[in-house]
Amino acid sequence: MAVTACIFDLDGVITDTAAYHYLAWKQLGEELGIEFDHAFNETLKGISRMDSLERILILGEKQHLFTEEEKQQLAKKKNEHYVSLLVDMGPKDIYPGIQQLLDELVEQHIHIALASASKNAPMILEALGLTKYFEYIVNPDDLTYGKPNPEIFLRVAQALGVKPSECIGVEDAQAGIEAIKAAGMFAVGVGTVDILQAAGADYVVESTDMLELSKILQKNNTN
Ligand code: BG6
Ligand code: MG
Repeated sequence: MAVTACIFDLDGVITDTAAYHYLAWKQLGEELGIEFDHAFNETLKGISRMDSLERILILGEKQHLFTEEEKQQLAKKKNEHYVSLLVDMGPKDIYPGIQQLLDELVEQHIHIALASASKNAPMILEALGLTKYFEYIVNPDDLTYGKPNPEIFLRVAQALGVKPSECIGVEDAQAGIEAIKAAGMFAVGVGTVDILQAAGADYVVESTDMLELSKILQKNNTN
């Protein structure tokens, strides 16, 4: 099957912002008396800001202690901390291999798009100097469902006018891989092989420097 589009997640795929999300949520959790570890954090990846907060509050059995307005304030506080961690972000923070992969996609005339749940995504792509590569960036405010629902990936295919079966999705999150598969696309995982394979990934690499377009296309062909 010909590949006509490659759809990227941002946090934890293009740059190391997944680590900053973790730090910011962890600090907010500690302030609320809710401790969580890396394993729990895996379940937050790809999940929207408000849904992540809700999961943390449920973990601490504190979901009923706050009004909707207070929850908005907590999410705002986390985001301000998160954004403060991004002040020095620049092209040096692009994960290894990503720029090369984007250049190869351009050379092969494969559409490039972003399917991130983050409202900070356009600002981060701009800071990294990568905006020019992305033909379409989903606005998470326009979505009804979060990952693992396929809506975000299907929205990209629709916007680009391509068939989902001709798309490749690249994700570091369990929820993201599930969303790609539910959209009927080829799922490339970046991260822990067991976790991402269990989520349904078709091909997994441990780090972005191992993302080679020729290999991905070959795996897609033999799938
Ligand atoms: C996803 C991240 O990309 O975006 C999540 O994996 C994050 O950790 C979500 O919660 C929403 O991001 P933001 O920047 O809008 O709070
Ligand atoms: Mg991610």
